[in-house]
Amino acid sequence: MIIYKTKDYQDLSRRAASIIAAQIIIKPDCVLGLATGSSPVGLYQQLVLQYQNGDLDFSKVTSVNLDEYKGLGPDHDQSYRRFMDTNLFDHVNIDKTHTFVPNGLEEDSSRACEEYNQKIESVGGVDLQLLGIGNNGHIGFNEPGEAFECDTHCVELTQSTIEANKRFFESEADVPRYAYTMGIRNIMQARKILLIASGRAKAQALKDALYGPVTPHVPASILQLHKDVAVVADEEALELIDR
Ligand code: F6R
Repeated sequence: MIIYKTKDYQDLSRRAASIIAAQIIIKPDCVLGLATGSSPVGLYQQLVLQYQNGDLDFSKVTSVNLDEYKGLGPDHDQSYRRFMDTNLFDHVNIDKTHTFVPNGLEEDSSRACEEYNQKIESVGGVDLQLLGIGNNGHIGFNEPGEAFECDTHCVELTQSTIEANKRFFESEADVPRYAYTMGIRNIMQARKILLIASGRAKAQALKDALYGPVTPHVPASILQLHKDVAVVADEEALELIDR
């Protein structure tokens, strides 16, 4: 595991974007595993800039996103499909038919998850998986206490995640209670992982994930067992780690 400490969020976004850019340059037809939330917004802006400057070509890239709220479709402004379109896909030359997000509108959870697992397999697995980390140590929507052995599955969101995500909705009651998420097994099968974390609110989760015991109570702690992980985190997120 390599840990890059950055001054602030801007710096983090540039550094993390250059890791993704390197992946695209080395393997133009790579499969990127992508994340939503506030952490990657700056990184996506950097990728758009690199594309606009003519330094990046997304035309052969495939993407699979980590997760989607159950019940939200592309038309909902808080769906993760919409997030990806708005923050990245609409601004680069990626072929949108090669971008995949779990189908939030599929009511049959088993079918939605099975189809998504098959999709990940059919694109040949993920070359580089981008991850944020929840204040409670979650990755994707793999919440504390869940088994590590899961593939894509349907989860009931914890109160802490609902609290953290309500800022994106009009009220807490509007936050969906369920989501489809890649499981820890899917994430660990990615050939490389890039974890980003910014701000004090992430400091405890990051410390537990990187230096605590590997336990389902801190889902991100499993990353200690992956052979190729880069962590890009700012000073505040790393403030509890004495290096
Ligand atoms: C998003 C995702 C989540 C977030 C995490 C951090 O696709 O899977 O695990 O990465 O909740 O969210 P932010 O970046 O908003 O702090």
